[in-house]
Amino acid sequence: MNSTSRIPLIAGNWKLNGSMASSRQLIDDLVHGRDAGVSPEMLVCPPYVYLAPAAGWLHASGIALGAQDISDRDGGAYTGEVAGAMLTDVGCTYAIVGHSERRTLFGEDDQRVAAKFRAAQAAGLTPILCVGESLDERESGRTEAVVTRQIESVLAAAGVDAFAAAVVAYEPIWAIGTGRTATPGQAQEVHATIRTLIAARNATIAGQLRILYGGSVKGDNAGDLLAEPDIDGGLVGGASLKASEFLAIYRAASG
Ligand code: PGA
Repeated sequence: MNSTSRIPLIAGNWKLNGSMASSRQLIDDLVHGRDAGVSPEMLVCPPYVYLAPAAGWLHASGIALGAQDISDRDGGAYTGEVAGAMLTDVGCTYAIVGHSERRTLFGEDDQRVAAKFRAAQAAGLTPILCVGESLDERESGRTEAVVTRQIESVLAAAGVDAFAAAVVAYEPIWAIGTGRTATPGQAQEVHATIRTLIAARNATIAGQLRILYGGSVKGDNAGDLLAEPDIDGGLVGGASLKASEFLAIYRAASG
């Protein structure tokens, strides 16, 4: 983590979990448990239906609100979709795009992910672009090729300048929800690859780009991961559902 130029971001991806009551409790616990004086940015991404009330519960806390997904359409006859303007309307400033669960379980390809990335930016949201390889791809030596392809498709659609207002999250699929975390060295290697890819087009943007690691981040492994020079925060799933665990990760980012 290069704290001199990049403010760490600790983001909680709640996925398909919680209720109105538990969401409110979790946010209350984060608002009260967070040391407002420390520098890392904290972000929570509840399910769509809890975003509007969450904005109220978070009010003036300094904790940011984000969506787990976004439509690539602006509006119209697209049943079930939620547009970027609706997300900003209820107080979101971030949207996750291309999470591996969207890619593998809901069939989102690189083109769809790039369209969502652009839709987020068009609405004034900061996209958190998720990339990462499967176990099979890692074991067959294709990690760099897969991650490069995923980043290149967004570069082709949006251009390098778009990365000045974006966040990237490297999430090896084999580490998500499995308890099997990438080693700090494995993660750093891919983070450096991503930064180098952006730097080949624009070194300044690459130097400012926050690249988060995701995949079984917990309070007891966050410190080692965040100590790596190109790891600028975490995208946290399971451990973001427990305030004490998420706050421990957050504190690791401030240390
Ligand atoms: P996990 O999920 O922390 O539960 O592994 C991370 C993610 O999918 O963003």
